[in-house]
Amino acid sequence: AVMKKAIITGVTGQDGSYLAELLLSEGYHVVGCIRRNSDFTTRRIDHLFHHKNFEPAFLDVVDHVALNHIISRSKPDLFFNLAAQSHVGVSFELPYYTSITDGVALIVIVEAIKQFAPNCKLYQAGTSELFGGDPKYAPQGIDTPLFPKSPYAVAKQMAHHTIINARESGDVQAVNGVLFNHESPRRGKTFVTKKITRYVADYANSKNKSDMAPIRLGNLNALRDWGYAPDYVRLIYQSLSNFNGNDFVVGTGVTTSVRDFTKLCFEEVGLKIQFEGSDLNEVGYDMQTSRPVVVIDQKYFRPLEVDKLQASGAGNEYFKASFEKVSLKNLVSKMIWYDLRYKDYGSSEFEDKFSVFWK
Ligand code: NAP
Ligand code: GDD
Repeated sequence: AVMKKAIITGVTGQDGSYLAELLLSEGYHVVGCIRRNSDFTTRRIDHLFHHKNFEPAFLDVVDHVALNHIISRSKPDLFFNLAAQSHVGVSFELPYYTSITDGVALIVIVEAIKQFAPNCKLYQAGTSELFGGDPKYAPQGIDTPLFPKSPYAVAKQMAHHTIINARESGDVQAVNGVLFNHESPRRGKTFVTKKITRYVADYANSKNKSDMAPIRLGNLNALRDWGYAPDYVRLIYQSLSNFNGNDFVVGTGVTTSVRDFTKLCFEEVGLKIQFEGSDLNEVGYDMQTSRPVVVIDQKYFRPLEVDKLQASGAGNEYFKASFEKVSLKNLVSKMIWYDLRYKDYGSSEFEDKFSVFWK
């Protein structure tokens, strides 16, 4: 039998790394697209390079020539478009770059698939940011109106409708997964969960706690629906392997504030935190020592905020999924367990041992 081929853009990211493991373990040939950098960016996938079915390829998704070349050469069966400038806060500072990477690049992908690989199925990494998070529309499901509130979400909305139109005009078998926040030990360190779990692990490990400056955070009131990335990646894979042409949502249905997430993390290492004061003067104290461990920094606030994300059951594949689901407490414990032992992701032995999909 001919081996099935999958292309992943964004393979060096959190989701791409798990998806590559899953596809390799399912017997796919995986073309993993890596953006050239002045230094290594492959920490999350270094353990995959020795696999005979893993083929790294250089690609920046804004490079039309390279995109056309990769698709015409590989003629993939599946294409997962995960590459993105994925930081919502940064998108306010880089609106143009974010729009071409997260929005316009997909047009080139769709056109190249039409021309060179017409049977290829296409997955687009959609986001709950599309909903905008006004509490009056929460919980959000597949039928909730879209109110993108950042350059990131505006670009993702363009991609979202590009997929729908490509599918409905019969051009490409394409699907949007509208995913709520999902985290893991491999989460990027500029996202709030990983920023907090790393701080808490450092704090718990530190012999001289008085030397440690408090963590600086932004809006503690934001409510997010946080799930476990490998659970979501499994559904991403299934959306193409059992393609049915339905856009779908993935989220747990549980929403938690950044403040409560922070408390949960400290509880995981046996510490209680009490918050006092309000707005920019709010401070979180370690109740045992009365030391400040959380302070507020204006620079982490966004010009517009998405207040409340919470998945509803409408179109929600997570609610139907049969695999074991990881609760928020369990997610926190996995992330902190990792951060207590390991300062950075990336040792081959470590990721091999703790990879979720490796057979
Ligand atoms: P991530 O960790 O930030 O990874 C993003 C990936 O995209 C990285 O591999 C990055 O490469 C690559 N990339 C960025 N700009 C690129 C460009 N111009 N050309 C080629 N590659 C580029 O993101 P993630 O959390 O895994 O998320 C995966 C996708 O799902 C993203 O599209 C994100 O917007 C979307 N999403 C994520 C969540 C979530 O909660 N995680 C929820 C909904 C949707 P480098 O390693 O070189 O930076
Ligand atoms: N990053 C960050 N850093 N966020 C902070 C901080 C901080 O110091 N303090 C408070 N926050 C708040 C943000 O304002 C936001 O409301 C919330 O914490 C979560 O921020 P992020 O972890 O950066 O994630 P996000 O929700 O903006 O976006 C993530 O999820 C989206 C899906 O809903 C990203 O993964 C996006 O790519 C994804 O589409």
